[in-house]
Amino acid sequence: MKHLLSIQDLTQDELLALLALAKKIKADPGQYRHALDGKSVVMLFEKPSLRTRVSFDIGINKLGGHCLYLDQQNGALGKRESVADFAANLSCWADAIVARTFCHSSIEGLAKHGRVPVINALSDLYHPCQALADFLTLSERFDDVSKVKLAYVGDGNNVTTSLMFGAAILGAQMTVICPAGHFPDGYMVAQAQTLAQQYGGKLTLTSDLEAIEGHDAIYTDTWISMGDSTALTDIKVRFSPYQVNTALMAKAGASCFMHCLPAHRGVEVTDEVMDGPASLILQQAENRMHAQNAVLVTLLS
Ligand code: CP
Ligand code: NVA
Repeated sequence: MKHLLSIQDLTQDELLALLALAKKIKADPGQYRHALDGKSVVMLFEKPSLRTRVSFDIGINKLGGHCLYLDQQNGALGKRESVADFAANLSCWADAIVARTFCHSSIEGLAKHGRVPVINALSDLYHPCQALADFLTLSERFDDVSKVKLAYVGDGNNVTTSLMFGAAILGAQMTVICPAGHFPDGYMVAQAQTLAQQYGGKLTLTSDLEAIEGHDAIYTDTWISMGDSTALTDIKVRFSPYQVNTALMAKAGASCFMHCLPAHRGVEVTDEVMDGPASLILQQAENRMHAQNAVLVTLLS
């Protein structure tokens, strides 16, 4: 493993090893407090962030490393200088680059032109660190994560694709339920379906909400991702049946609710579900740090 650009670059063994290491670091952080001694990580963000920025910063600190944040003005790739020049220069000083970009091709460009590991902290196509934290959360909740039945409801976006790839590689069952015209990219769906077949998983895509029945966990995300200029009023009309509320949770028979956050309360999910007993949202947020630390330790030590 040289970079973490997308979950589908991992084998099942690599993914399981990352989850196992994340659990070890979470259980005994003291054992890893020098894991990144003398290492510097640059975090380059073209979009806002709370969880990703803070969990990387504090996580790197807990591993004994140092991190430096380039904000949306200084981290805007291709504006003041090219992605290639950015990558070449950062590689002179940093031991790794964590990047959140509008275009996934910018993250690929950093990996291609730099000389240090690159970690995708969210792009238009993928959010692998989120999916790692989510499968860590599910593996804490269920004995065998490959037996989990996960349903994603709402907009087919970067979070959806990373969950699809993760579920497929773990051999789990996942149903993606989106309004027509809002499914994840067809090419990525086909790739995820191939992986699901290879690893004994099952991936189903539908617009029919009846398919929600019989799932362990229901996952949703914002209906409008960062960089998408669609008006919420237009989206609300099409998406309102797909809101995760108490009735939908009951129909699913699900014991867990998941959301990567930030959430739009009262839009894609109700307060009742967000703050209810099935909600895993804060466990997911906490696990961002442990999952990312496992990635950093794997790539850098
Ligand atoms: N879930 C997530 O990535 O949150 P942020 O956008 O706040 O980093
Ligand atoms: N799909 C969302 C995830 C935010 C963490 C976005 O890209 O804005």
